[in-house]
Amino acid sequence: MGREQIIRVENCSVVFGRRAQQALEMKRSGGSKAEVERATGSTIGAYENNFEVYKGEIFVIIGLSGSGKSTILRAINGLNEPTEGDVHLDNENISKMSSKQLREVRRKKIGMVFQQFGLLPTRTVMDNVTFGLEIKGASSEERKKAGEEALELVGLHGQGNKMTSELSGGMQQRVGLARALATKQEILLMDEPFSALDPLIRRDMQNLFLRIQGEVQRTVVFVTHDLDEALMLGHRVAIMKDGEIVQLGTPEQILREPATEYVERFVEDVDYAKVRAAESVMITADNVAYPDEGPTVVLRRMRQAGLYFIPVVDEERRFVGMCEVEEVARLVERDERELREAVDTTATKISRGTYLREILPHFVERSAPVAVCDEGGRLEGIVVRGSLIAGLTTTTPEQNGDGPVVFDDGRPDSAALQGSETHQEIDGRR
Ligand SMILES: Nc1ncnc2c1ncn2[C@@H]1O[C@H](COP(=O)(O)OP(=O)(O)OP(=O)(O)O)[C@@H](O)[C@H]1O
Ligand SMILES: [Mg+2]
Repeated sequence: MGREQIIRVENCSVVFGRRAQQALEMKRSGGSKAEVERATGSTIGAYENNFEVYKGEIFVIIGLSGSGKSTILRAINGLNEPTEGDVHLDNENISKMSSKQLREVRRKKIGMVFQQFGLLPTRTVMDNVTFGLEIKGASSEERKKAGEEALELVGLHGQGNKMTSELSGGMQQRVGLARALATKQEILLMDEPFSALDPLIRRDMQNLFLRIQGEVQRTVVFVTHDLDEALMLGHRVAIMKDGEIVQLGTPEQILREPATEYVERFVEDVDYAKVRAAESVMITADNVAYPDEGPTVVLRRMRQAGLYFIPVVDEERRFVGMCEVEEVARLVERDERELREAVDTTATKISRGTYLREILPHFVERSAPVAVCDEGGRLEGIVVRGSLIAGLTTTTPEQNGDGPVVFDDGRPDSAALQGSETHQEIDGRR
């Protein structure tokens, strides 16, 4: 994720009601939201909000009902006009835009997804998905192509001809997500998109969303009142109370240094698994290979240790890539001298501090372990799919690998996992 900002909300207040200025003055001189409301009849929806959203980021806004989440979200695409302050999109002040320009921005740049996706029941899945494009006046070929791509992304390939009323709730939600994706807008505003779903489907949708996000890299502002969801999805999280942002930080910062007592109470029963980092599930790579080694030697090493993948490093233990056993065997058959050709140099590399949540999308597509490297690129360990899943589903009081991960049966993480879990994955694939 780059640090290039795409949205800037500056000192933004949104007041509902006639006596907006008076309400703001009263608030500034120390009145609470409730007092202001009683005295003026106006409601402070958002008060002096300041934040930036970076390109490719998932920025989460969380807070109790009525705290101002939707209010500020709607200010970002101009549906709410700030009573004071500004919203900049790509350094353009949207309050200065004409309503025509604003409509254009909403069509081309910012998409919005609501809690109820608002599908049209009498139209097909495909028609629903490409609805936004139809309004934009896209040609039918263009619509078909984008629609199929989007359906593929959400796992509804080939279901385009069904009526949406024939689908289950979870599938309908996917269609809604596909529709938001098909429009290809750079920014997605999502207002509690998953909150109507039952917990299991919800988890699926969160994972699906993370996976898709890993591929398409939109900028997302995501509103929720579920802390677990916020911590799992958000790169950064803003916590709102009575229209104000009481804390803004990474999930880790919010849990470790809650800024106020309010936040502290808010995060009390959080599931720490969601914010644990790679080092807490990393295992040591006891076996490595070198690019100039002979394939026969490496194959033997892998077979002895029961490995389906082996990390390849240079003389200084800098990570070069990952090697799959089948590829090594192929080199042996061809009588090759060096391992080099079998090394996948595009293998995923992360650092100790990478959150588990960010590693998850990798394992949706691949079963190869992920390499954990230090700043100099030296291999420190690997994360295999099995230990990642265990890391996400077991809660340990100490975060961030103060000790090895211990699984339910009390067995410490072991090389066995490296073999057995990976075996299963591979076998399952064949
Ligand atoms: N159109 C409106 N007219 C008057 N007051 C409004 C309007 N929209 C929101 N409010 C008020 O502004 C405050 C913030 O509301 P908002 O909808 O942003 O809360 P929220 O955090 O999205 O809550 P929820 O989780 O229930 O969706 C509330 O006090 C609400 O009553
Ligand atoms: Mg809301």
